[in-house]
Amino acid sequence: MKHKNFGPVIAIANQKGGVGKTTTSINLAASLAALDRRVLLLDLDPQGNTTSGLGVDKQSVESGMYAVLMQENSIQEVLIETDCEGLYLVPASMDLAGAEIELVTEDGRENILQQAFDSFEGEPFDFVIVDCPPALNLLTLNALTAADRVLITLQTEFYAMEGLTQLIDTIRRVKGSLNRDLSIDGILLTMVDRRNNLAQQVESEVRAYFGKQVYQSIIPRNVRLSEAPSFGVPVMYHDIRSTGAQAYIQVAQEMIQRQAV
Ligand SMILES: Nc1ncnc2c1ncn2[C@@H]1O[C@H](COP(=O)(O)OP(=O)(O)O)[C@@H](O)[C@H]1O
Ligand SMILES: [Mg+2]
Repeated sequence: MKHKNFGPVIAIANQKGGVGKTTTSINLAASLAALDRRVLLLDLDPQGNTTSGLGVDKQSVESGMYAVLMQENSIQEVLIETDCEGLYLVPASMDLAGAEIELVTEDGRENILQQAFDSFEGEPFDFVIVDCPPALNLLTLNALTAADRVLITLQTEFYAMEGLTQLIDTIRRVKGSLNRDLSIDGILLTMVDRRNNLAQQVESEVRAYFGKQVYQSIIPRNVRLSEAPSFGVPVMYHDIRSTGAQAYIQVAQEMIQRQAV
């Protein structure tokens, strides 16, 4: 592990928007916490959907991810204990969009999150999940530089594979320069509708090409998953029996099992 103070840091990434990064960040983190892990979730997307999805009003956040990246606050100073036991959040604040621009002129601008982790001295976390913005920008580069692993969410649609090469290329470049310990945690298929022929076809292509890197568990399309954020809770607190809640618990178990191997 890169960081002495905690377990794996997993960046949830894909430069495409709307492929289930935020939904996965919230519900995977909550599932890991429900399985008795201590989990820290970082909202690195200026849209702040992870923050609001956990019932935290972005406008009322005084300091969060932005202050950490501007080195004004430490992670301990800005993390919030959520209503889900064991789950802690570093929220996105309104000004996070500005960080992307302000960081450009900083020396070591890709390393700031990494340094924030290195100087973390609070109670250790078993997992750190980072929700990335839908771009291969400096915020994402900070996540990839600080991460042990990347979890790629992939929506099973016709253009799914497009853009994946660019992402894997970026991961390879980061590995070659900023973070040689970076690895791919896996690919998670999201919003899957197995009744749909095209989705089935995309799934088997992805599995044929990426093999064991693809999570066995898939996330089905499930309306409870899209409703839960409006209640400000992870799906398991909205409808534990839903296929969406069950799927994310399975993914969390699979992640823990893979870890143990
Ligand atoms: N498995 C799913 N079933 C139904 N809706 C989903 C599912 N996953 C995500 N969504 C919805 O799709 C939209 C995009 O998902 P989101 O997680 O925000 O993607 P990203 O963070 O990659 O932009 C959101 O409105 C979300 O509620
Ligand atoms: Mg998102």
